[in-house]
Amino acid sequence: MKHKEIIDKMSLEEKIAFCSGKSFWQTKDFSKYGIPSLFLSDGPHGLRKQVGENDHLGLNGSVRTTCFPTASAASATWDLELIEEMGNAIGKEAVKEEVNVVLGPGVNMKRSPICGRNFEYFSEDPFLSGKLGSAWIQGVQSNGVGTSLKHFALNNQELKRMSTDVLVDERALREYYLTAFEMAVKESKPTTVMCAYNKIDGIYCSDNKRLLWDILREEWGFDGAVVTDWGATNDRVEGFKAGLDLEMPGSKGRFDKEVKEAVESGILDESYIDKAVDRLLELIDRTTNTDKSIVDEDIHLKNHQLARKVAAAGGVLLKNEDKILPLKKDMNVTVIGELAKTPRYQGTGSSLVTPTKLNSLLDGISEYTKKINFAPGYTLGDYDNDDLIKEAVEKAKGCDKLILCIGLTDIYESESFDREHMRIPNNQMKLLKNLLNVNKDIIVVLVGGSAIEMPWADNVKSILHMQLSGQAGGLAAADLLFGKENPSGKLTETYPYKYEDVVNSSYFIKNPKLGDYLESMYCGYRYFETTEKEVRYPFGYGLSYTEFKYSDIDIRILDKYEIEVTATIQNIGDFDGAEVAQLYVAPQTHGAYRPVKELKGFNKVNLKKGEINKVSFKLDKRSFAIYSLDKGDWIVEEGKYYIQIGASCKDIRLEQVVELKGEKPVKSDCSEWYYSLKGIPTKKDFVTIYGEYPEYVPQTRGCYDMTSSIKEMKETSLVNKIMYKAMEKTIAKTNGGKVDYTNSRFRMIMDSASDNPMKSMPLFSPESMSVELAEFFVDTANGHMIKGLKKILKRSKSK
Ligand code: BGC
Repeated sequence: MKHKEIIDKMSLEEKIAFCSGKSFWQTKDFSKYGIPSLFLSDGPHGLRKQVGENDHLGLNGSVRTTCFPTASAASATWDLELIEEMGNAIGKEAVKEEVNVVLGPGVNMKRSPICGRNFEYFSEDPFLSGKLGSAWIQGVQSNGVGTSLKHFALNNQELKRMSTDVLVDERALREYYLTAFEMAVKESKPTTVMCAYNKIDGIYCSDNKRLLWDILREEWGFDGAVVTDWGATNDRVEGFKAGLDLEMPGSKGRFDKEVKEAVESGILDESYIDKAVDRLLELIDRTTNTDKSIVDEDIHLKNHQLARKVAAAGGVLLKNEDKILPLKKDMNVTVIGELAKTPRYQGTGSSLVTPTKLNSLLDGISEYTKKINFAPGYTLGDYDNDDLIKEAVEKAKGCDKLILCIGLTDIYESESFDREHMRIPNNQMKLLKNLLNVNKDIIVVLVGGSAIEMPWADNVKSILHMQLSGQAGGLAAADLLFGKENPSGKLTETYPYKYEDVVNSSYFIKNPKLGDYLESMYCGYRYFETTEKEVRYPFGYGLSYTEFKYSDIDIRILDKYEIEVTATIQNIGDFDGAEVAQLYVAPQTHGAYRPVKELKGFNKVNLKKGEINKVSFKLDKRSFAIYSLDKGDWIVEEGKYYIQIGASCKDIRLEQVVELKGEKPVKSDCSEWYYSLKGIPTKKDFVTIYGEYPEYVPQTRGCYDMTSSIKEMKETSLVNKIMYKAMEKTIAKTNGGKVDYTNSRFRMIMDSASDNPMKSMPLFSPESMSVELAEFFVDTANGHMIKGLKKILKRSKSK
């Protein structure tokens, strides 16, 4: 142990207390041992440092910091240098604000396009997420500030995010869900990893030894500290054994007594606690030597410019018929859409940043032309308003250029709840229909943090997708519309024609307590490419004002699986631009089931008009490997592999085959579904790759416990029903007075609070919600109200 000298001086109580937070954002300090307190703040697209009231849902204010594009928008840049630069800028703001650890990046896979928090995650592809996550971490940590790679692992839905039990087969776990974490841990050494709320195979991540110790530390060599997601602790004693170091926020001493008793009775060896303390002391060493002189006085100004640059680089041009874009300076433009004036530039929840500045699309356009005719066309709440439509239609008639800004509003995607569908709000659809009656030349600027159904795409001329592009997103969109910047962003998730096309759409969050991942690793393009199902816009897709020609693929085998691939790309159009060349490996081994292709390299190149340049990619064993269940290790199946280079997963421009030596390909002994992907996978298919597991039986009277929530218990308990109603009223009071599930803030708080497992209620609720009271609700729901009351009385007497 590196910090043995200090640890030897600390009492058992002090050591236990040190491993649990002091306040919502701070760790405990012990001045007598020279141990300072650390300050942790969200992440990931800017800092959310709270100095007043605290919360984990972005409800209370935070200091002003730069709001960069959210991960889904930033990822569309496919630009590792830029993401590192953005990380560096966030790290510098952390130094300025005296924050030691920034809680990000989020590298969970977008298993479903309707996960409410997809805007906070990079991609549906693990390789891309791993690379971008690593770049972000390197950027932040280069300032001596720490990061927290989250949410480890399989936190892929918001419904019951604190208690879902994820059942996933080993190959999907390794080849799809853990890969980004593994890459980031190995490539960039994050100072901390944040364990997720949910369970995996029946065991909460916070005390999951296989996840936190065997895989994370033993296999991947992680040497940092593991911190809980806020309130994720389940069993603190088991947590210590599993390698969980820091519980955040503190549980007000709730677990400390249990841990001490466990040590004294020999259930928990004190060495587990010593090691956790050692790792936390190391975290302090790694994150407290920052130097404020690196922070420029005009940091906010500079970062606003950087936010603009990232947003522009992430803007994806989905359509540009008749080359309607770029627009000319000083031309007449009609701009329609409330979102052009009131931008939606980030998501809601724990990542909500208070920006230093905010520019709308109208602000951006006014930098290029003053001849703007604006009409809101709709309200942000999804209500019909024919007057607004009428006004917009009048302005759209015969106008010069028509820019329509539409997209998802807050109620359509948020932390704490999932989306119900993939459409944009009805009132916006209605406006669009009416506009199309009078003007077909519509340029859509699209906003939203996750994939959207676009049945209207064929009817408009152009679509520029800005996603959630941060505080300078409005300026960036205008830079792209007027051709100051040439679009170079590409989609990092598939945009299907309709939600029903998604493999797991018929069962995702339908059985939330048990998240059986029937589809294995076939998510996103892995599914669509393998089944050859058409999509609206494929993974990796995005247009430019110029065109690129790919040629001369060349493959050099350096060692067994070490391969260098090069190709030539030429800008053959009329604008300077940048292209994201993507490399996919398509196995022809006919052994184990697997997707027809997977991304294993990418390279963004800037090319002036007419310029020609080489791109190169390095492949290694993992570019070809699958996880062998027999060996418990990665293997390469012998045979042919196509190396494909293209402009999206569908648009493959170059291809060459390599033949590799390796293990004899063996057909997997499983249901045919995993080869044919015909129809929808069933539990019967899944058990052939996962193994048997019991049917999910909904909890009912008699079997509720501290992991149950008020929302669940209200179904069978009057007291809990009354509590639920009281919660609604209390939350409504702070949100305009009405119980209104169409208000995103109300819905987020309500869903989060009522679905909170009772074990973490005392952490997030007012002081009056004690552990005893939380137990009372559980006892009552189980039909033991008197028992619950007695406990409350007994404990209040003993205080
Ligand atoms: C979120 C984390 C966040 C934490 C602190 C949790 O609810 O899941 O991503 O870092 O709160 O705000």
